[in-house]
Amino acid sequence: MCGIVGYTGPRQASRILVEGLKRLEYRGYDSAGIAVRRDEPLGDGEAPLSVIKRIGKIAELRQAVPKDLPGTCGIGHTRWATHGGVTDANAHPHVDGSGRIAIVHNGIIENSAALKEMLEKEGARFASETDSEVIAHLVAYYYDGDLEAALKAALGHLRGTYGIAAIHADEPGRIVGARNGSPLVVGVGDGEMLLASDVTALLAHTASVVYLNDGEVVSMTPAEFRISDGDDRAVDPKIDTITWKLDAIEKEGFSSYMEKEIFEQPESIDRALSGRMNQEYGSAKLGGLNLSKKELHAIERVRVIAAGTSWHAGLVGCQLLESVARLPAQAELASELRYRNPVVEPNSLYLAVSQSGETADTLYAMREIQRRGGSVLGVCNVVGSTIARESDGGVYVHSGPEIAVASTKAFTSQLAAFYLMTLSLARLHDMSHHEGQRFLAELRAIPEAVRASLAQRDAIQAIAKRYARYRDFLFLGRGILYPIALEGALKLKEISYIHAEGYASGEIKHGPIALVSPETPSVFLVSNDHLREKTISNIREIKARGGPVIALAQEGDDEVAGLADEFIPVPTVGSRFQPFVMVPPLQLLSYFCALELGRNVDQPRNLAKSVTVE
Ligand code: AGP
Repeated sequence: MCGIVGYTGPRQASRILVEGLKRLEYRGYDSAGIAVRRDEPLGDGEAPLSVIKRIGKIAELRQAVPKDLPGTCGIGHTRWATHGGVTDANAHPHVDGSGRIAIVHNGIIENSAALKEMLEKEGARFASETDSEVIAHLVAYYYDGDLEAALKAALGHLRGTYGIAAIHADEPGRIVGARNGSPLVVGVGDGEMLLASDVTALLAHTASVVYLNDGEVVSMTPAEFRISDGDDRAVDPKIDTITWKLDAIEKEGFSSYMEKEIFEQPESIDRALSGRMNQEYGSAKLGGLNLSKKELHAIERVRVIAAGTSWHAGLVGCQLLESVARLPAQAELASELRYRNPVVEPNSLYLAVSQSGETADTLYAMREIQRRGGSVLGVCNVVGSTIARESDGGVYVHSGPEIAVASTKAFTSQLAAFYLMTLSLARLHDMSHHEGQRFLAELRAIPEAVRASLAQRDAIQAIAKRYARYRDFLFLGRGILYPIALEGALKLKEISYIHAEGYASGEIKHGPIALVSPETPSVFLVSNDHLREKTISNIREIKARGGPVIALAQEGDDEVAGLADEFIPVPTVGSRFQPFVMVPPLQLLSYFCALELGRNVDQPRNLAKSVTVE
C-alpha cells in the first residue's frame, strides 16, 4: 500500500526512481511522483528540487519526467489514496513552503488536522488535502541546517504510522528515512545507497539490505549510512542478503503477473514442501517453528489470525488440523480479533498468516496476542517482513515474489505449509507411521496434480467467455472446499468486479437461494468424499430453480457432468487434498472473466498489494 524509493549515488536519480516505482506499482497505483535535487548551479528562478507528479500509472509519470533530468539524489512514491482524492496535488512528494524540502510518506498521520492547524498559524500554506503534507512543513519548522535532526524533531509530534523519506536542497546527496509501522529497507550498493518500502525496488541494484525497525531513523549518503533508534542511540546494522532473483519479478513471457503466478504453482508448491518431508518417519519438519517436541506436544489448540486470501488458507488449515491432527483450531479475521478483547489461552499455538508479512490488521492482532503473553508464529512469504521478524518463530512459504494484487501462488504455498504442519502435529498424536507415510505420498503428488489442473486452461477460458457478462455469481462448497468457495468468490470480485458470494452449500437454502435465477450462475465445488451426495442435492436445488451451474468435480464424475451446465474436471487426489486442485481452475475462471471484461488483472481498481493501514 503505497511505495517509496530513494536513490543517492553517482547515477542519474530520476531513471532509477522511476524504474523502482514501476517495481513498486503493485503497492498502489493511483498516482506517483519523484523529487530530485538539482546538482548543478541553478539559473535564475530555477527550483532547487525538481518535483514531478502525475495521477495514473507509472507510465504517465515516466512520460512526464524529462529523459535528461539532472540530479543524482532523489525520492519517489507511488500512492494508494487514504486522505484526499486522486489528484496531482495530492500525489507525493510533498514540499514545504520554501520548496527546499521534499518528503514521501506511507501510512497515516492520525493527528494531521491538529498539526496542520498549528502549522498554518505559523504561516505554512498547504497545497494538498493529504495528511502527509504536514510532515514536510513540520520538518521545515524544525530545520536548522540538519535534515536528520529536523526529521527527528518532527517525528516527536506525529501520531500514526509512517515510512518516510526526505531530502533537502541544501544537503547534497543526503536522504533521511524513518519508520514506524510501515516498512523501509536500506539497499547498500557500491558507492551508492537506496531506500525503499519493499525489496523489489532494490533488486536490480543490490542484494545487500538492512531492514529498519520501528522507531529507527536512517541517514544516508552515497558512501555511508547510519541508523539510530528512538532514543537517538546508534544501531549496529544487520546486513541481510536477498535471495530473490531479478527474473522472479519479471513477467517472463506471460501477459500478466497474475497469469505467470497461477502457472508457477506446481513449482512454488514444490518449493514450499521441499526439504520438509521426512519419508522415513512419515512426518514433516518445519525448522523455523523453533518448538521442541515437548512444546509441540503441549499445544492444545491452534488459532490462526489472517486477512483475505490468507484467512481462507487458515480456514482450510484449521479444518485439517482438527480433522487430521485432532487439535481444536479456529481461523479468525485479524481485523476483528484485535478489537474484541480476546482471551489468550495458555497452550495455544497462534499463527499469523500473511503473504506480505506487512498487513496492518494481522500485524496489530499479532502484537495484541503477544502483549497478552501469547506467542505467535508467522507463516509468511516475504523474507524479512515485519510479521516474520516480530513473530516468535515461523515458516516461510517460499512461493517467490507475488506481484499481482490477487494472491494465487502464495495461497497454495500457504496451504502446503498447513499440510506439513498438520502432518507433524498429527504424528505427535494419533496418526500412525504408516498413515503419515501415506499422507506424505499424497502431498508429494500435489505439484503434478496442480499442473494437470492447469491444463484445463482453454476449456476454462471458453467458459469464462460465456459467463463473464453475468453480474452475480454464487460459489458453493462443503467441508474443506467451503473456504475454497470463499476464495473463488473473492478472486472473481477482486479482479473482474463481478459480484460474487461464497457460501457453504448447505447454507444456501437458509437464505441465499433467493438469489438464484437464470441470471445468477452457481459455481459448485463437488468433493469426492461423503459430502459429494449432499452437494449434488444442492446442485439439483439450484437447477430446479433455473440457475446455471458450473461444477468442478473429480475427472470422470459423469453424474455431476450430466447435471451441470458446465463441467470442469479436476485431477483425482485424496479428498483432503482437493483444495489444491480446485483452486487453480477457480483462479483461471476469474482471470479469464476479468480479461474478457477488459480489466487490469494485475492492478485491480481500489486495491493494493499488502494493506498497511487498518
Ligand atoms: C488476495 O487476493 C487479496 N489481495 C487480499 O485479500 C490479501 O490476501 C489480504 O490483504 C492479506 O494479505 P497478506 O496475505 O499479505 O497478509
